[in-house]
Amino acid sequence: MTYRMPENFMWGASTSAFQIEGAYNIDGKGLATTDVRHVPEGMADTKVACDHYHHWKEDVDLMAELGLKTYRMGFSWSRIMPDETLVPNEKGLKFYDDLIDYLIEKGIEPLVTLYHFECPQALVDAFGGWKSRKMIDAYVRYAEVCFRHFKGRITKWVTVNEQFIATAAPDLAMEYIADPYERSKWIYQISYHVSLAEHRAFALLREIDPDALIGPVCSIQVVYPATSDPRDVRAAQEAEEMQEFYLLDMSVYGEYSPAAYTWLKERNLLPQTEEEDVQILHSSKPDFIGVNYYFSGCAKYEEKPFDFSTSFFWASDDCRIIRNEYMKPTEWMDHGIDPEGLYNGLRKIYERYRLPMIVTENGMAVSESLDEEGRIHDSYRIDYLSRHIAEVRRLCEEGYPVFGYCPWSFMDVLSSHQGFAKRYGLVFIDRTDTEIRECRRVKKDSFDWYREVIRTNGEKL
Ligand code: BG6
Repeated sequence: MTYRMPENFMWGASTSAFQIEGAYNIDGKGLATTDVRHVPEGMADTKVACDHYHHWKEDVDLMAELGLKTYRMGFSWSRIMPDETLVPNEKGLKFYDDLIDYLIEKGIEPLVTLYHFECPQALVDAFGGWKSRKMIDAYVRYAEVCFRHFKGRITKWVTVNEQFIATAAPDLAMEYIADPYERSKWIYQISYHVSLAEHRAFALLREIDPDALIGPVCSIQVVYPATSDPRDVRAAQEAEEMQEFYLLDMSVYGEYSPAAYTWLKERNLLPQTEEEDVQILHSSKPDFIGVNYYFSGCAKYEEKPFDFSTSFFWASDDCRIIRNEYMKPTEWMDHGIDPEGLYNGLRKIYERYRLPMIVTENGMAVSESLDEEGRIHDSYRIDYLSRHIAEVRRLCEEGYPVFGYCPWSFMDVLSSHQGFAKRYGLVFIDRTDTEIRECRRVKKDSFDWYREVIRTNGEKL
C-alpha cells in the first residue's frame, strides 16, 4: 500500500545555535556554558563552528533551494541576553531579526528553540544556573523578550530541547557536582526547575501572542525488552518511563506519573517544591510535542545496587540498556538503525498525550570528507532518512497527527560531543576539527534527494 503525506506537511531541517553560529564573543554576545566547557585537545569548539553568523544568508538561500517549508533553529540565549542584568543585546536581536525576516521572505517558517543545551555562563556564575529558582525568572524574562520582539513573525516556539539530556548529561547540567548522590539529586531538582520555567513560558506566550504555538522537544527513548521474560518487559517500560515519559508528563500534565513518583521517592530523589508550583504546573499545556529520534534501545532486567554516579540513561538498579541483536551497529550508532522505532515511539506519544507531533530531529552520523571530485555521495544517509520518512508517512495515513519532519541536520554541525568527526548534514561544511578553512558549503547527494522528497510531498522516497 502507498501512504501519502497530508497537504501542508511541514518539510523542514534542523540545527541549533551553539552548534553552527560561531562568533562566540562578538557583537555583545556573552559567553555561553557551551563556550567555556572543556573541549578535548584537537576537537572543534564553539568559537567558529560553521561560521553561520557570517554565512547565514547563503545558508537561507540553500534552504530555499531545498524547498524547506520550515527551519527548526535555535536562539542563543547569551547572544540575546549576555549576562545576569538580563538586559537584551540589541545587536544580538538584530542578527536574529535579519535571519528571521529573510527566512520569511523566502517562504520558510521559523520554528525556534529557546533553550538548546546552553545558557549564559554569567547566570551560572551569579547564582548557580538551574540549581537556583532565580533561573526560572531569568528564563521567563528571556522568553518574554523573544515573544514580544518576534510576535507575528515566529509563530511556533520550542521551550526546551531534550530536557532529559540537557539536565542529565554531566557537562550539560550547567554545573559540575562531584558527589554522585548529590549530583543525581540535583539532576532531578534542576529538571524540576526547567519544568516550572517551561510552564510559565507556555502561559506567557498565551498572553503575549495567543495565535502562536509552543511545545517541548523530547528525545524519545523507544526501549524494547531483551526477551519476553516479564522482568525484561517491566525493565523496558521503566526505562521509557524514566527517560522519556516522566518529562513529557511534566510538560503536558504538570505532574509525575505514579511510577515516576515512586521511582524518585524510593531513591530519595524527589525535588523540593513550593506551594505555588502546583498551580503553575497545572495551568498551562503545550500545543504540540517535538520529537527527536535517532535509534531505539533494548533493556534487560538486572538487579544491582543503584549507582548514583550515572543517571538513568546509562544505568539503573533494575535494568541495563544492552545492544539489540536485531540491530546492526554503525560507525557512530552503537544501537543500530531502527526506522520502525520512530513509528512505535510516535504512536505511544500520541496514545498518551493526544497532541499533534512534529519530528524535530532524525538523522545519521557518519565520518565524511570530500572525495576527489569534491562531492559527498551519502547513499547511506538517503537510505536512513527515506526509511524513517516512510514510517512518518504511514503514521500520517493511519490518522496520527504528525505535521512535520525535520532531519538532523540541515548542515554538518559541531556535534554535541564529537566536534566535526561525525556529520549529519544535508550540506557539508568544509572544515575539520583542527582546520577551520573557509567553511565552504557543499551540497551532498542527500540534499538533492531531499529536495525531490519535498517537491513530491513525500511520494518519491
Ligand atoms: C540531539 C541534540 O540530542 O542529538 C543535538 O538535540 C545533537 O543537539 C544530536 O547534535 C546528535 O547528537 P551528537 O552527540 O551526535 O551531536
